[in-house]
Amino acid sequence: MSAVPPVSVEKSPDRISGMFDAIAPRYDLLNRVLSAGIDRYWRSRAIRSLGLRSDAVLLDVCCGTADVALQARAADAVGRVVGVDFAGAMLAIGHGKIAQAGEAGRITLLRGDATSLPAASGTVDGVTVAFGIRNVERPEVACHEMVRVLRPGGRLAILEFGEPRLPGLAVLYRWYFRHVLPRVGRLISGHGVAYSYLPASVSNFPPPEVFCQTLRAAGFLDVRAVPLTLGIVYLYMATAPPAVVTDVSR
Ligand SMILES: C[S@@+](CC[C@H](N)C(=O)[O-])C[C@H]1O[C@@H](n2cnc3c(N)ncnc32)[C@H](O)[C@@H]1O
Repeated sequence: MSAVPPVSVEKSPDRISGMFDAIAPRYDLLNRVLSAGIDRYWRSRAIRSLGLRSDAVLLDVCCGTADVALQARAADAVGRVVGVDFAGAMLAIGHGKIAQAGEAGRITLLRGDATSLPAASGTVDGVTVAFGIRNVERPEVACHEMVRVLRPGGRLAILEFGEPRLPGLAVLYRWYFRHVLPRVGRLISGHGVAYSYLPASVSNFPPPEVFCQTLRAAGFLDVRAVPLTLGIVYLYMATAPPAVVTDVSR
């Protein structure tokens, strides 16, 4: 199979939002086909890892078509979800799914950027980002924003693709990711570049130990990266720092 031509990993908001707007109508279908349905399991692991109360408020950054929000509510894992994304067409699909699920009272989607979150400081119990952080032009700024909006001790879960390290699997996966996925993606989405950008952006994303450092530098504590499905995906977990207690008795 001939190689798919290389694609730029430039991540300006206009380019990234334009790309997701263009593939929005086929995005969910492609997720199911290309991951053989495992994507739902990955999201459910991330939601469960937060360990939130059923009345908690979750902020889902880079929410796309609202799959995390809907799964979290279907599992009764949280009380309310606010989703943020800058691609209007992805949000429009999400709004349709939320209405169909009867969740409009508990899930709100906002148009906004991960590097300037539309939420007040210390107001949410949990933050999730599923397959979005590698697309953010300045992920370190987004990490600072996430720690800012979390209440003290609030929990973070980020899902992002990785590169499996098991030798045989790594070769097979690279072949699938570089040759099969871009072709199937182009065929179903009708978009020439988006599904070539996907493997390119995964290769361009820092390895787990480096991204954990970015989270620590933003102020997160207890940062961990757990490989899922043999390292095809990593689940990053972290906790916002506790409130600073000032001793006024002295
Ligand atoms: C691969 S999709 C993931 C969508 C969803 N979280 C899911 O699990 O299916 C990535 C999403 O991130 C959004 N995105 C990327 N960079 C962003 C940014 N800086 N601010 C807001 N949304 C962003 C894109 O518009 C897109 O909807």
